[in-house]
Amino acid sequence: MDKHVALISGAGRGIGAATAKMLASEGVAVGVLDVLLDEAEAVAQQIRDAGYQALALKCDVGLREDVENAISTVEKEFGPITILVNNAGVGGPFHRVDQVSDDEWEWIMNTNLKSVFLFTRNLLPKMKEQGFGRIVNIASIQGLYGSAHSSTYVASKHGMIGYTKTIAAEWGEHGITCNAICPGYVDTALGVQTDKISDYMQRVLAKSPVKRIAKPEEIAALVRHLVGPHGGYINGSSYVIDGGITSHVGITSDL
Ligand SMILES: NC(=O)c1ccc[n+]([C@@H]2O[C@H](COP(=O)([O-])OP(=O)(O)OC[C@H]3O[C@@H](n4cnc5c(N)ncnc54)[C@H](O)[C@@H]3O)[C@@H](O)[C@H]2O)c1
Repeated sequence: MDKHVALISGAGRGIGAATAKMLASEGVAVGVLDVLLDEAEAVAQQIRDAGYQALALKCDVGLREDVENAISTVEKEFGPITILVNNAGVGGPFHRVDQVSDDEWEWIMNTNLKSVFLFTRNLLPKMKEQGFGRIVNIASIQGLYGSAHSSTYVASKHGMIGYTKTIAAEWGEHGITCNAICPGYVDTALGVQTDKISDYMQRVLAKSPVKRIAKPEEIAALVRHLVGPHGGYINGSSYVIDGGITSHVGITSDL
């Protein structure tokens, strides 16, 4: 895939970092974007040390100026962007709807959803001109189901999936595909770190079919397929990767 250039948001750690490394190892030149510049730098350095191409950039994905700057810097360095992975995300505190502040709502919605709009709106016309584009949005199983005490996160991820389907419908004829991935529980700072599994999560995992959380690389591998040479007919889809957790209705009934 050495003619491709990817922008990956939130790539300083977790799923984004795993995706950046995996795509780079396929020859893709990657823009490693994160609000945490040191983390993004470390990932980009590992990629370059392995002999591939990467550029780290500080970018707050909820800010239009940062998004535009990241896009133009990566274009100047590597050429036209062919792959966009909207991965940056925040979970926010767990509490009820009536306890959510305006600031919290804006922070989560700007980071998880407005960011997708900012990147996508900018890149779609260029991808149309190229006649090629691959967009992958990292949503969540909480983009498909409700979840008590996570209303803003749930709303942002449902919005992401609706947006994904609409981009697919509008832009498919121009060689652009847009899909979402819905992870369950992944071993990252935002998700469930293997060394800090709560009692609640122990009970979820005990009842889950695969009995473990995912590795970030297991999500990255699906991104690689969706943007790779055999992904072109997949458009507007949302892929659950949760080890089967949402496949059975009894999972949370008596936790
Ligand atoms: N880990 C899970 O269990 C899980 C499950 C479902 C969905 N997801 C989704 O996967 C995506 C990646 O999460 P992760 O689990 O790798 O978490 P993570 O916290 O390890 O990584 C998220 C990255 O996004 C960056 N980020 C946060 N706010 C940002 C901003 N405003 N601008 C730029 N970067 C920002 C963080 O600095 C971090 O590097 C998120 O969208 C998350 O909602 C994760």
